[in-house]
Amino acid sequence: MHPARSFFLSLGAALAVSTAACSAPTGSQPAQAGEGTSQWRPALHYTPQRNWMNDPNGLVYYQGVYHLFYQYNPHGNYWGDMSWGHATSRDLIHWSEQPVAMPVTDREEIFSGSIVLDEHNTSGLGSAGKPPLVALYTSVFKEGSGHEAGMQAQSVAYSTDGGESWRKYEKNPVLTLNPESRNFRDPKVSWYAPGGYWLMATVVSDAHVVKFYRSKNLIDWEFLSDFGPAGVARPGVLWEMPDLFPLPLDGNARDPRWVLIVNINPWSIAGGSGAEYFVGRFDGKTFTPENLAPPDSDPSRYLWLDHGADYYAAGTFANEPHGKAVTIGWMSNWDYADRVPTTPWKGAMALPRQLALKTIDGVPQLTFAPADQYAALVDKGPTTRVGTFAVSSGSKELVPAARGTVQNIDLTLEPRSARRAGLVVRGSADGAAGTRIVYDTARHTLTLDRSHAGIGNFSPAFSKEHIVNLPLDNGRLRLRIVVDRGSVEVFAADGRAVITDLVFPASTDDRISAFAEQGEASFHDVAVTNLR
Ligand code: FRU
Repeated sequence: MHPARSFFLSLGAALAVSTAACSAPTGSQPAQAGEGTSQWRPALHYTPQRNWMNDPNGLVYYQGVYHLFYQYNPHGNYWGDMSWGHATSRDLIHWSEQPVAMPVTDREEIFSGSIVLDEHNTSGLGSAGKPPLVALYTSVFKEGSGHEAGMQAQSVAYSTDGGESWRKYEKNPVLTLNPESRNFRDPKVSWYAPGGYWLMATVVSDAHVVKFYRSKNLIDWEFLSDFGPAGVARPGVLWEMPDLFPLPLDGNARDPRWVLIVNINPWSIAGGSGAEYFVGRFDGKTFTPENLAPPDSDPSRYLWLDHGADYYAAGTFANEPHGKAVTIGWMSNWDYADRVPTTPWKGAMALPRQLALKTIDGVPQLTFAPADQYAALVDKGPTTRVGTFAVSSGSKELVPAARGTVQNIDLTLEPRSARRAGLVVRGSADGAAGTRIVYDTARHTLTLDRSHAGIGNFSPAFSKEHIVNLPLDNGRLRLRIVVDRGSVEVFAADGRAVITDLVFPASTDDRISAFAEQGEASFHDVAVTNLR
C-alpha cells in the first residue's frame, strides 16, 4: 500500500487497504518459522528488529549520541498506525533500537517531522539548565479527536531527558492550513542564524509547494514564502519531506549556497519515489533556485541525491557536531515497499552520507560520501588487496579471500577498449546470479543491474536497471561499493553520483568478478574489506 496515495482516501479506507496489503503474498521466499528472512537482515544498515519502518524523522545529535527516529508501525509489518520509532548510535553505524518514542493514539497518527535542540529554551518547554529537544511532527487526526478526520497539521512534542521520553505540547496543533489543505506535512526545522529565528520548511504535498515559516519560540509560526511548483511537478506527483540548508560552495564558507531537498513520488529518476534537490539562494524569506531546467523536463535534467531506486525521504541531522550536512535516507521505494520479501521487518535506512557542494560542469552540485565513521570502519577492517589486473573480453572471479556478503569494495575502473566493463557482486558459483555494476563506454553511463540479483518477482514495479550519466576522468572511474546482505550502494566518481538498490540474493551468493565485453579493461587497486 502506498500511504501517500491513501491520503486521498478516508482514513478508515486507507487502513483497511494497508492491512490487506500486509496479508498479500510477499514473493517466493517463505520465511522460516521463528527466524524470518535473516539472510537479508542488514549488518551495516539500520533496521528495526520487527515491523514496518519508513522515513527517517527527527535526526538530531545530542551529547555524544545520534538519534534516529522514524516512521514505524508498532503493530505490524505493514504501513499503518504511524508512530515514531527510535534508535541511537555513537558512530552512525552501530545502532541500538529504543522503545517507541511517540506511539499512535486514539486521537492521532504521528507522521514525519524533525527535532531541534532548543539550546536557549526559546520554547519555554524546558529550563535554562535543561534545554529541551523539540520535535515538530505532523498530526494526522482521527475521528473523535475534535479535528476533521484525516486532517494533517503540525504539532509540537518535547523531551527534557535527552530524547528518551516525549510529551506533547498541550495546545497542539501549532500550525494548520485548514481548510485550504489536508495534505500539509513533514515539517523540517532549523535555526536560521543570520535572522536569529527558527525556520520551518513544510509541504502541501499534492500542490507541489514547499512552504517556509519562521518562529521565535517553535510554537508561533509566521508564513514567509512558497517555493514551487518546480522540477518534477506532474499531476499525481507528491512532494514530501523537504529540507533546506546552506553549504559552502567548493569549500569556500564565504560563498555558501542553499540546498533544498524535495522528496518526490512518483516520477523520480529511477522510477517511483526519489530525492530531488535544488541549489540556490535563500535570503531569510525566499528560496530562489539557480540553473533550473523548466518544470516537467525529463527527470535526468534535474538533480538527485541518488540514482538508484531505493533512496527516499532523505533529510539532514540537526546539531551535527562538526557542522556538516549528514543525511540518512529510507532504503526503499513506495512503488513496492509493502511487497519487499523481508520478515519480521520491512524497511532499512541507507548508510549515513556526508554532502558537499562542488561546481561540476559549471553548475553547483552535491557530492556524496559515506559518513567518516564508515570510512574509519573500512580502514580498520581486514582487507584483501587484489591489486591491479586486466580482463579481456571475459570475466575473472576474484580470489576466495574476497568473497563475502557484507563488504566494502574500492577500485578504479579503466574500461579502455571494452564496450562495457564492471563488476558483479553477490555473484553465484555458476555465474548466473549477481548484481552487475556496468560502465558503458559508448553511452558514458554507469548502471546497476539487479535483474539477476536474486528474488525480484514480488512486485512488477521492482525495477531492474538504474542508470546515471557519468563521464570518465582521464579514462578512469573511481568506485566505492558498499555491499550488505540486502542492498548495494555504489558511490561513483568521488561521490558525484550514488546508486542505491535493494537486492534479495541467496546467502551463498558471495563472489565478486570483474568483466569486460568486446575489448580489454583494467581494474586498478582493487581492495575488498569484509565488514561482518
Ligand atoms: C513520506 C511520507 C510522508 C509522511 C509519511 C507517512 O514517505 O509519505 O510524507 O509524513 O511518509 O508515513
